Amino acid sequence: MSLVRKTSYDTDMPKEKPELSDAMRKKMQGKTFEKNPIKGTKFTIAISSAKGGVGKSTFATNLALALKKNGCKVGLLDADIYGPSIPKMFNINEKPKSDGQTLSPVMKYEIQCMSIGFLADQQTPMIWRGPMVTSAIKTFTQKVSWKNLDFIIVDMPPGTGDTQLTFSQEIKLDGSIIISTPQEIALLDVKRGIKMFDKLGVKILGLVDNMSYFVGEDKKKYNIFGEGGVKKTAEEFQKEFLGEIPIDPEVGKNGDLGKPIVEANPDHEISKIYLNLAMKIKKIYF
Ligand SMILES: Nc1ncnc2c1ncn2[C@@H]1O[C@H](COP(=O)(O)OP(=O)(O)O)[C@@H](O)[C@H]1O
Ligand SMILES: [Mg+2]
Repeated sequence: MSLVRKTSYDTDMPKEKPELSDAMRKKMQGKTFEKNPIKGTKFTIAISSAKGGVGKSTFATNLALALKKNGCKVGLLDADIYGPSIPKMFNINEKPKSDGQTLSPVMKYEIQCMSIGFLADQQTPMIWRGPMVTSAIKTFTQKVSWKNLDFIIVDMPPGTGDTQLTFSQEIKLDGSIIISTPQEIALLDVKRGIKMFDKLGVKILGLVDNMSYFVGEDKKKYNIFGEGGVKKTAEEFQKEFLGEIPIDPEVGKNGDLGKPIVEANPDHEISKIYLNLAMKIKKIYF
């Protein structure tokens, strides 16, 4: 199966990233996968990207908050086992409680959150083998007591590794959103990402062009990374184009402070983009 081969997306993954184990490969051969929905939520949406650093976690956290502000009950699952971001972006320092059977999500900004970063020291590089990643993902989807949620937003790691396979094959994903920046090099990988979800039968809700331009003090729009590429890619693959999010230092600052912009400043232009998008996504499902 071509998807398990090492691809160019793996270049920005940590060196320690293992190949799929023989056991996993065997498991995948000729097997029809049973897809288990995550208990405690109506819908599960993955936020993915081909490359790291395009703003996936920023998008996932702000979309989760925007859905909440649209009246939805929301969970946020940090599936980036090698590089968890939710603890920092939501400024969460507490460990989840456990009754020995299940883990309780940590509540922050009225959102139920779970991340490997709550359990392991954030400074420790996660030199985990493929099967351990798979088992962490299974724990997060089957042993966390998510409660009464409309949506779980999953912040995926970049690329097409074990996490994506586990989610796409064994867990019921109701949709995915692909984040990209407009550079040619990022777009090339996006195309492969689209093909992966299509092949695995996961509905792509659309593509988002993040950090697409910068508005200077002169009020001029600067297309730093190129223009229109993400939209063009969406058209080429007949996927929805969900819009552009400009570069704004406020976004990074708020993320670093542990209070994403939608929560910190809901009236900001960028927050409005997120709130509109959340409304649109809510309408797809409800
Ligand atoms: N629209 C934006 N404007 C400014 N900075 C952004 C924007 N989106 C993301 N960033 C910044 O880019 C960096 C990478 O974002 P992150 O969400 O961690 O990416 P990923 O999860 O894809 O690796 C972060 O420092 C984040 O604050
Ligand atoms: Mg991230």
